[in-house]
Amino acid sequence: MLAERNNAALLNKDKVGENVRLFGWVQTRRDHGGVIFVDLRDRSGIVQVVFNPDMPDNGFASAEKLRSEYVIEIGGRVRLRPEGSENPNMLTGEIEVVADELKILNRAKTPPFYIQDNLDVDESVRLKYRYVDLRRPEMQKVIMIRHRVMQLMRNYLDKQGFWEIETPILMKSTPEGARDYLVPSRVNQGCFYALPQSPQIFKQLLMVGGTEKYFQIARCFRDEDLRADRQPEFTQLDLEMSFIEMNDILPLMEDLITMIFKEIKGIDIPKPFPRLSYYEAMERYGSDKPDTRFGMELIDVAEAVRGSGFKVFTDVLAKGGRVKAICAKACSNMPRREIDALTKFVSIYGAKGLAYIVMAEDGLKSPILKFFTEEEINNIIAVVGAEKGDIIFFVADKEPIVHNALGNLRLELAKRLGLIKSDTINCLWVTEFPMFEYDEEEKRYVAMHHMFTSPLDEDLSLLESEPLKVRAKAYDMVLNGIELGGGSIRIHRRDIQERIFALLGMSMEEAKEKFGFLLEAFDYGTPPHGGLAFGLDRLIMILANRDNIRDVIAFPKTQSASCLMSQAPSPVMKEQLKELHIKLDLKNKTTD
Ligand code: AMO
Ligand code: AMP
Repeated sequence: MLAERNNAALLNKDKVGENVRLFGWVQTRRDHGGVIFVDLRDRSGIVQVVFNPDMPDNGFASAEKLRSEYVIEIGGRVRLRPEGSENPNMLTGEIEVVADELKILNRAKTPPFYIQDNLDVDESVRLKYRYVDLRRPEMQKVIMIRHRVMQLMRNYLDKQGFWEIETPILMKSTPEGARDYLVPSRVNQGCFYALPQSPQIFKQLLMVGGTEKYFQIARCFRDEDLRADRQPEFTQLDLEMSFIEMNDILPLMEDLITMIFKEIKGIDIPKPFPRLSYYEAMERYGSDKPDTRFGMELIDVAEAVRGSGFKVFTDVLAKGGRVKAICAKACSNMPRREIDALTKFVSIYGAKGLAYIVMAEDGLKSPILKFFTEEEINNIIAVVGAEKGDIIFFVADKEPIVHNALGNLRLELAKRLGLIKSDTINCLWVTEFPMFEYDEEEKRYVAMHHMFTSPLDEDLSLLESEPLKVRAKAYDMVLNGIELGGGSIRIHRRDIQERIFALLGMSMEEAKEKFGFLLEAFDYGTPPHGGLAFGLDRLIMILANRDNIRDVIAFPKTQSASCLMSQAPSPVMKEQLKELHIKLDLKNKTTD
């Protein structure tokens, strides 16, 4: 049995007169002429403890020794604070605990930073002393939300008949996707395991294994370039079901996500979520994860500019490119240098320029007016739906560049103009992704989701003749412009899986060597199946209003995939390498 104990932050007026026992850390100690005040902090919050000189057992002398972050146990009695000394900024500000017992459980060095929110210290210091950082209330809150979300997921899926099943961490390295993390085998010389990029193959084999409904809160490992929302090891809520179609999975996942938002944030998200085809998402928002909390959609102006004298536009159209525009409302007073900055911004995405028409009060202003007749200009304005006070921005280029540049410009303008209300939640599905994209560098087709994704039945006949036109039974859940999760209905027939491998440029021998076990399994009665995986870390980022993925992981890695606290990765002993039959060849390194 644990010793009887109270939570600091739960003490209030109702507890006045009660004896309590608290365990925690010294937040602050103040000497007030013969009386010592200590703010005691546990994971629930803070309460003020008063030590008087007449405490039994030399308690007062111990209290004089207290310093920040000492670990203490106290016994005492709750009382109302004397009138005038209440602290309205503190949850427990109406009361205090008068100590009659103090045990110092441990001393502490002066911490590298204060245990408080809105800390102004370099993140590297926080990561080095992560165990101290985790004591800060805002970090504790995130960790608690993460715990709660996992419990909600488990309960919900259990009720829906899902089984939680673990899959191997040491697995076979397979091609495609991101780069694998490899683990050398000591017993099997020269052979390596890979850490899973996701449990994809195993969850499909679990369906062959008759488990019907699987889920796992699974750790995934991907050796890829890191960004604000990517970690080398991250967590998925991974699931898979048999005998289902897309229309069975999507509502179930909507129920799960809306339930979590209701429980954690008290927010009601309307259902069903809108569904946009990939085509529509790209055409209207220039993105496969559109943020639809604001409008400013992309508008095709090809017909309005086709016959004009502006060669930049007409040449692009002649080459099969696109000319599209967005209309920024009520920005006609945007200074020239800001427009220049936006031109620079779109160049990051490959745009060669950013044409514009400012619809100022005293007439149109634009470097491209001279290339158009008045009628053409009026036509463009009508197509775009622009009004006095707006600016129309144009990009002309190959389709992917137009979409990428204008899609990102749209987001950038929304940010600058404050168009996004931070408390709105906007969920949608993007469906009908293309099966393949063409990789210009590798000169071959690659799977857009992954190679186990089923083509739409009606597009199956195009597989060999027009692969880029084949759509997949794939779907992504998008939340406020963030890809929260993605999945698909899988291929469950060996013949179709073999056709996909062939299209991806994999010979039959290669496919057999890499995925023979999966192809073989498909011969033993594989049920139709499909599933999805959510990025748990990303979900917590949204729920906890954090824009850095490291803030929602207890022990995260830096941008260079290292742990500043434990110094992983690190060199290992020569003997360890020898056992693994590994010789290092570090040409540019001085250490061996
Ligand atoms: P996918 O690769 O789309 O699908 O991953 C699913 C979700 O995981 C999150 N995610 C990440 N989060 C943090 N750091 C990363 N490096 C990272 N990479 C991905 C995203 C993403 O939507 N097996 C398939 C799912 C399936 O088909 O069932 C898969 O892994 O939120
Ligand atoms: P130019 O006559 O080439 O200086 O271009 C006139 C305007 O068109 C400038 O505002 C350029 O930024 C813009 N522009 C140039 N190329 C493109 C393009 N591919 N798409 C959109 N605008 C462009």
